[in-house]
Amino acid sequence: MESAILHRSLTKNYPIAVGEMEFTSSTIKGSAYWTEAAVRLFLALDIATKRIMYTSSGSEAVEAALKIARQYHVFHGDLRRINIIGRLHSYHGNTMGAMAAGNNPPRREAFEPMLSPAFQHVSRCFYDRDHDGMTEREYENHLIDELEAKINSLGAETVAAVIVEPVVGATLGAVAATPTYLPRLKALCEKNGILAIWDEVMCGMGRSGSYHAWQSLGGAAPDLQTIGKGLGAGYQPLSAILLSEKVATEFELHATGAKKFINGQTFQGHPVACAGALAVQKIIKRDRLIANVLARGEQLNSSLTTGLPSGFFEYSGSLRGMGLFRAVDFGNLGAATGGSLAQEVVDESFKQGAAVYTCSSAVDAVLIAPPFIITEQEVDVLICSEVMRSGAGHAFSEMIVGKCTE
Ligand SMILES: Cc1ncc(COP(=O)(O)O)c(C=O)c1O
Repeated sequence: MESAILHRSLTKNYPIAVGEMEFTSSTIKGSAYWTEAAVRLFLALDIATKRIMYTSSGSEAVEAALKIARQYHVFHGDLRRINIIGRLHSYHGNTMGAMAAGNNPPRREAFEPMLSPAFQHVSRCFYDRDHDGMTEREYENHLIDELEAKINSLGAETVAAVIVEPVVGATLGAVAATPTYLPRLKALCEKNGILAIWDEVMCGMGRSGSYHAWQSLGGAAPDLQTIGKGLGAGYQPLSAILLSEKVATEFELHATGAKKFINGQTFQGHPVACAGALAVQKIIKRDRLIANVLARGEQLNSSLTTGLPSGFFEYSGSLRGMGLFRAVDFGNLGAATGGSLAQEVVDESFKQGAAVYTCSSAVDAVLIAPPFIITEQEVDVLICSEVMRSGAGHAFSEMIVGKCTE
């Protein structure tokens, strides 16, 4: 239920008939089993890599990406590279490795003593909250210096990968990296022989207004990328890991050797899942839905901005996000009006028929991430509907109602 809103790039208005899903049973390619649907989906994706690995959930994709990073170094004989650096207030999934790589405190707390010390964390990139008077450039310098210090303290030769959500989703609510943070982080990784993993399970596949979120955030392609939610849009459970040329080449060299990568799972690349995702991806292309994500995202942002009274901003409230991946952060407003607002908005909205998402307790914010097919009129309805009016019994309703009843 929780993630229900965020994989829905299409909705029931776009029924996909089983007949539209193109699949056949297994085809054998080389020594591996591939299905036609898996191959066709791979060819339909807008990606440069020649290697993909399918998994079923975002957590599994992250687990596999972490293992691929380690395996890459094993192929090189770089056996000391065991450490993974993640960032505070990130979310990478609920399985043990993904949870260790992330840092979503409520999800992690009970399991903390069981998590491996090979997972370390540095600060989040959240300029609006954390800039402390610095320019964006100075703030980035500070974060990159911190990461370099962490790498040096662990010993660069012991670090396998750095994992980052280009736009932080579940934990902080649509917090995008500053403009040159990702390229600078990638360059630092390269200098130290470390792989950069961009986790785009939530923010990718068009959700942020470009096919990959990193394309709008400085353009640095990662060594490994995870994708999920929007890939099958909830019609089928499917996720994947995209391997860069550098990593793929290494894996090809060792495809059949004694050290070859072993990470098989029963339902990996399931033909029905791939066929479902292929149908989704064809529709997204055919109907130019990413352009719609951008246009409707702008509309959503400006409707929210003009709907909010100045008091919202005085209490450090803020709007942020990209494409149809937006957050309303209530700042100190909740504290000033009797408690956190986010959960109240989410609960009431759900009663009224709309799913918005509560972020972690690190912020008092909700994520709004409607389907890619939302129309201009529907954005108006979303903003001016009962959902938003009664969403927060007090402060939020006043902001929105004021605008909707003009
Ligand atoms: C960035 C990110 N990575 C990984 C995951 C885990 O995906 P799943 O819930 O499909 O296991 C999520 C889920 O919200 C996510 O937002």
